[in-house]
Amino acid sequence: MKRIKILDSLTESESLKTRTDNQKLINFGIGDTAFITPYPIIEATQIGLGTNKTHYTDSKGIVELREAISSYLQKFDIPSTLDDIIITPGAMQAVFYSLFIHVEEGTKVGLFEPAWLAYNKIIKVCGGIPVFCSLKNNRLTITALEVFIENDVKVIIINNPTNPTGKVWEKKELDILVNYCKENKVLLISDEVYNEIVYDKKFISIGQYKGINSIVIGSFSKVFSMTGWRLGYIYSKNKKNIDRINKLQQITATCPNSFVQYGAIDFEAELSKIQTQVAVYKRNRDLLYKTLSKINLKPLFPDGTFYMWVNVGMDGKKFAEKVYNDYGIVVVPGKAYGNDTQNFIRISYALPTEKVIRACKRLKDIKWVDAYKKLGGEK
Ligand SMILES: Cc1ncc(COP(=O)(O)O)c(C=O)c1O
Repeated sequence: MKRIKILDSLTESESLKTRTDNQKLINFGIGDTAFITPYPIIEATQIGLGTNKTHYTDSKGIVELREAISSYLQKFDIPSTLDDIIITPGAMQAVFYSLFIHVEEGTKVGLFEPAWLAYNKIIKVCGGIPVFCSLKNNRLTITALEVFIENDVKVIIINNPTNPTGKVWEKKELDILVNYCKENKVLLISDEVYNEIVYDKKFISIGQYKGINSIVIGSFSKVFSMTGWRLGYIYSKNKKNIDRINKLQQITATCPNSFVQYGAIDFEAELSKIQTQVAVYKRNRDLLYKTLSKINLKPLFPDGTFYMWVNVGMDGKKFAEKVYNDYGIVVVPGKAYGNDTQNFIRISYALPTEKVIRACKRLKDIKWVDAYKKLGGEK
């Protein structure tokens, strides 16, 4: 199919459609946080605005912010220079750039099911063909990768920690994946926008692996509650990747927003405060996991992000409609996250805990869920 036809055929994002201002609703739909951007970042942006930092910048982004990102990446044992980093208007744009420079008509791109719904769409818009790999028990083994060999996949994209499951990839899984990519000369794109939202496990970045063609994507959106600012970045040791992405950025965005970049320079100073928010997410996760398990749904226990992936034992869309109509709770149906994800929903729990408690009280109606599961017909 041609690109424009593909674009026309795409459905609007469910999570954006469910955005609502109704106070009584509890919105677990949108992948955004209820927190405000750290004030020092707002203040630094205002200073930027007031001091004429309002013009085009270097297309790769300002040196000061690239330096700050380079220094931050050391935390994850990623050795970088300024030449390895490009600042982008958000991670989504970074995902698009990374795929666009590698995907030609018919290129097969591997992804792990369930995968954040934008990947599938971006791959198709670039002319590529998504190839889904299912993980047994949500863990990668060598045999799972056979589907990529069979399909001669040229690019793989992972999301670590993962939206929608909250999976934090373990070292042995990353080792398997990296070895596979090295042996088969596959580009590995690692979307790491939730890198600071991790609970009990250790997060490991793909950036620390040497001898592999990889692109790491980061963002200020989720960690710093800056989704509307549109600020992300790309790290790659491969000069060709950086050069191509830079050219693409030059002809599409020119550069990232100037004053937003100035505002973010001291972002590392805010990281310790972010831990308070992560503690709230963790509390929310525990409350929800307990409640949903009690009403016989099957949530996957998330080790990171602020999402929970729940098997509801019936069509996820019907379930979402029912909890919306009867309980005023918004969740996202799982269908768009893969080939076999019909019976799932995604819950986004970056809300104040009192809202999560209220939702849990509403959901405790065990009889309703069981009766409705029967009505909807379990798979
Ligand atoms: C996995 C993943 N990557 C990227 C993004 C987009 O991030 P940004 O706001 O930086 O474009 C999202 C947003 O939901 C996401 O879930």
